[in-house]
Amino acid sequence: MEIVATREEMRKLRHELAVAHHDKHFERPLVGLTPTMGALHAGHRALIERMTAECDVGIVSVFVNPKQFGPDDDLDRYPRNFDADCALCQTAGAHLIYAPAVEEMYPAGYQTVVSVGELTHRWCGASRPGHFDGVTTVVAKLFAACLPDRAYFGEKDYQQLRVVQRMTRDLELPVEIVACPTLRETDGLARSSRNQYLTPPEREAAPRLFETLQHMARIFAAGVHDVDSLITEGQRMLNPHSKGSKLELEYLAVVDPRTLEPRTKAQVGDRILVAAHLGSARLIDNVLLTGEEQVP
Ligand code: PAJ
Repeated sequence: MEIVATREEMRKLRHELAVAHHDKHFERPLVGLTPTMGALHAGHRALIERMTAECDVGIVSVFVNPKQFGPDDDLDRYPRNFDADCALCQTAGAHLIYAPAVEEMYPAGYQTVVSVGELTHRWCGASRPGHFDGVTTVVAKLFAACLPDRAYFGEKDYQQLRVVQRMTRDLELPVEIVACPTLRETDGLARSSRNQYLTPPEREAAPRLFETLQHMARIFAAGVHDVDSLITEGQRMLNPHSKGSKLELEYLAVVDPRTLEPRTKAQVGDRILVAAHLGSARLIDNVLLTGEEQVP
């Protein structure tokens, strides 16, 4: 596995790897990219392993992108552990890590923003102005630097996934976006680099976020389709006792999976999206409404 920090080296190595695989297969090799902000965990690993299983060349980018953090966000304390990230990428079978410095990504004079419209206005976009512009700008630049045929994104960040798919389609970028399911701890908490911020009592309370979504999905399956009733039930479930760490709800919504517009009547195929603050951590999660008792 190679580690590169500049776009120039990235291009050179990508080319060399592609040529090597070309020789082996006598056909155009498939290049995959998994964009990350490092502090890699089992959720990232699942994406990287899927990429290396499906592609001839697997690239992981590690870049804590300042443009997607607001002034009150956690940029300064965002966890960084590059040596452990490299070890995880190596064992997951990646060929190449692209880890540019901020000045490489945004040199002096940089002034371009890639901005998706309506899809970014609600939910995480409402509470984190400019966040999705930061995401789409850096993802477009990572696509340009790494030239992947496929890029792997987690359903854990459902709005991000939809926004990146929209950008790719609208700009006609020749990249296939592969959506990967959310990887969870055994108690249901979605894996996240930000789980490190939780104190032990908060960590104990955190699985309630997914339990709430599961509960809502179950009562939907049992026939409750009115979204107000589903949300009232969810809010009740989120903080059932007065004791213990409190989850402060930012949003809880049942949405059309394509437009992310809120529904009044829930349908099979819709998503429930949630964001909540727990101590100093902001947690997000989502589930698909299957209409089945079992929630995936
Ligand atoms: P980051 O939070 O590091 O996540 C990188 C990728 O891993 C994203 O596609 C995210 O959805 C996925 N991921 C994170 N936790 C996951 C889990 N528990 N299960 C499955 N997938 C999971 O998302 C970003 O970085 C950035 O916004 C980025 C796209 C890299 C742009 O800077």
